[in-house]
Amino acid sequence: MAGRGSFSNKLGFILAAAGSAVGLGNIWSFPFEVGAGGGAAFLVMYLIFCFILCFPVMVTEIAIGRKTQLNPAGAYAALGFKKWKILGILGILSGVVILSFYNVVAGWAFGYFVELLSGNFDIGNQFGSFIKDVFKVGGYAILFMLATAFIVSKGVAGGIEKASKILMPTLIIMILGLVIYSLTLDNAFKGLSFYLVPDFSKLSLGVMGNAMGQAFFSLSLGMGALITYGSYVGKDDNIVSSAAFITLADVGIAFIAGLMMFPMVAYLTDGTMEGAGQGAGLIFTVLPGAFQSLGPTLGVVIGSLFFLLLSFAALTSTVSLLEVPVAYIVDEKGVRRSRAVWIMAGIIFALGLPSLLSNGYSAFFSSFITYVGSENATSFMDFAQNVANDTFLPLGGCMISIFAAYAWKTKNLNEEIAKGYPGYMGSFVQKYLNFAITILCPLVLGTMFLLTFLQTFFGVNLF
Ligand code: PHE
Repeated sequence: MAGRGSFSNKLGFILAAAGSAVGLGNIWSFPFEVGAGGGAAFLVMYLIFCFILCFPVMVTEIAIGRKTQLNPAGAYAALGFKKWKILGILGILSGVVILSFYNVVAGWAFGYFVELLSGNFDIGNQFGSFIKDVFKVGGYAILFMLATAFIVSKGVAGGIEKASKILMPTLIIMILGLVIYSLTLDNAFKGLSFYLVPDFSKLSLGVMGNAMGQAFFSLSLGMGALITYGSYVGKDDNIVSSAAFITLADVGIAFIAGLMMFPMVAYLTDGTMEGAGQGAGLIFTVLPGAFQSLGPTLGVVIGSLFFLLLSFAALTSTVSLLEVPVAYIVDEKGVRRSRAVWIMAGIIFALGLPSLLSNGYSAFFSSFITYVGSENATSFMDFAQNVANDTFLPLGGCMISIFAAYAWKTKNLNEEIAKGYPGYMGSFVQKYLNFAITILCPLVLGTMFLLTFLQTFFGVNLF
């Protein structure tokens, strides 16, 4: 595999994969999904999905990647299953769609860094007009795509791995500091109880479906990002312990992002938690006000630093999203890496334009589609998220487990895992992973996918 590159060691891979997992999904969408899903009931479902169902899918993706040392589409074919190539292609396309809107939100985060640096704490109240300003946000989004492309063009070890090693630890320290601050605020306790004390009457199929989509999105699963990263992993690395670390880091950071957010929401709403369910704007409307109360100097320092680090967290994710289609055209079409990077970055940026326009600037894209059985129109950007995150990723995860169990066969999967994990065969871990891949994931993910798909897009409630 000369010229294809690889991570320099196990730590390099773990940090890059954790960098892929940790991003806007943890700090932007996780808190707003918890808020919209009624608090702790969502959190419980999310944890169940991550540890019980997503973890086995993660191990499988990395194993497929390492075994074949190829991109998702090439991987299925290389294992001898040409027809399954379509699953890889669908995954790559989901990644392309995700990156197209993700890049716009990353542009918001970077724009907030600039606003807070200039002391504009009122930006929280101006969120609606900010995201409508397509020239400003578009400019930030272009910058973001350029930074992503630059890192990916530097290759796996020199670009992706290096960036993750510095950015990840800094972000964690920063959030922990904010959690401590947040816990000292008035009404912090009310925020915590909203977040941590479950009210299961709030649990519905819709909430469970969102928890499932969020788990896949946050762990970068179901589309082959980890097949691709797995393709650069050394043969004697322990895939199971790597996947465990990545899952724990990702869930841990989402969890502490919640600890940071909900006391702040409680503080700013005098404990009513009204507006916790407002959706995508949550961190962008709530945080600037909280930073302001730190005083003019500290507020500017902490506030701008926070959004800068959020942008960096997003960057290690956009890098992994771009790497997937790039690896595909490098491996399958023989395009030079640097050229592949710029071609894909350009196409994906263009595909993101409807999302950019769909936040108030263009009426057509802002009220793009009205699902059957729904009263309100959905914007293009929300539609793209519903299709990619909530539909294609869980479906992809389900199909990947079906592939590993029934086409490739668990015996081969186990052999690949055992390469870096001597005691694996016959262990509890092996038994659980095999049970999950053959029965649990296909059954639960398949059923959940079907039910939430019918409900979201067609208003059909089977329960
Ligand atoms: N996991 C990333 C996040 O939480 C997003 C992502 C999804 C990255 C899918 C790669 C693949 O922000």
